[in-house]
Amino acid sequence: MTEQRVLWITGGGSGMGAASARAAAADGWTVVVSGRRPEALDEVVAAIRADGGSARALPLDVSDDDAVRAARDAVLAEHGRLDGLVLAAGLNVPRRRWDDQSVPDFRAIVDTNLTAVVSVVDAALPALRESGGVVVVVSSYAGWSFQPGAGVAYSASKSALGSVVRTLNQQEAPHGVRATHLCPGDVATDFLDQRPSVPDDAARAVMLQPTDIARTVSFVLGSPAHVRIDELVVSPVSQR
Ligand SMILES: NC(=O)c1ccc[n+]([C@@H]2O[C@H](COP(=O)([O-])OP(=O)(O)OC[C@H]3O[C@@H](n4cnc5c(N)ncnc54)[C@H](OP(=O)(O)O)[C@@H]3O)[C@@H](O)[C@H]2O)c1
Repeated sequence: MTEQRVLWITGGGSGMGAASARAAAADGWTVVVSGRRPEALDEVVAAIRADGGSARALPLDVSDDDAVRAARDAVLAEHGRLDGLVLAAGLNVPRRRWDDQSVPDFRAIVDTNLTAVVSVVDAALPALRESGGVVVVVSSYAGWSFQPGAGVAYSASKSALGSVVRTLNQQEAPHGVRATHLCPGDVATDFLDQRPSVPDDAARAVMLQPTDIARTVSFVLGSPAHVRIDELVVSPVSQR
């Protein structure tokens, strides 16, 4: 068992989750990264270890509740504690408007972006109560204000995360649990490949980079235990 604080990151194999994992490991956290692609997770773990940090890969489909609970058990069996969550797993699809969406896609997006956040927090809550843990929910600009291009399912799922965070904070404060609704604007990641009109390199160059969000996540994770950061909106100056 280790005395190092343990952070579990979903969507940790790429984009903001991976950048947050590297930053948190540099800050001294032991990091567990989850996602469906083991090879992506292994790359993140290798990079963290090469920098002298502590990390392990825990492949997981967050939309599988049983697998989420088994992953929670694996984290606790190996590390004996859980001090933080960064919930960055997310999904969108190109066909996202009322005139072209499908109900199975809608369900998959809500499962990943909303229900899986609740599932992971629910599984982790007893351990977070013990540690007075911190939860960073990577929502979206579209979860903060209406964004016409974000899509029916994505907008619905991300805007509901604000309520998830508020109920968590209201009800779990007596246990020292704190959560942040983090709402990034455009970030240059692979996620943008799902847009109906995929941004080119010039457009991506003026967006936020994953490391910008990692800095923000580090700030939240490093805040003293009596400080709760309820909501943060971070956007590139270029965003309209
Ligand atoms: N990029 C933006 O402009 C932007 C802006 C605001 C908010 N966001 C949000 O930021 C979060 C991170 O996205 P990103 O931009 O960093 O893009 P990304 O690199 O595509 O990250 C999304 C991550 O989610 C994981 N994931 C998807 N479905 C999963 C599932 N069922 N189980 C486990 N993991 C799953 C993916 O890994 P696997 O495929 O290996 O499972 C991937 O690592 C998402 O929640 C997204 O909605 C993005």
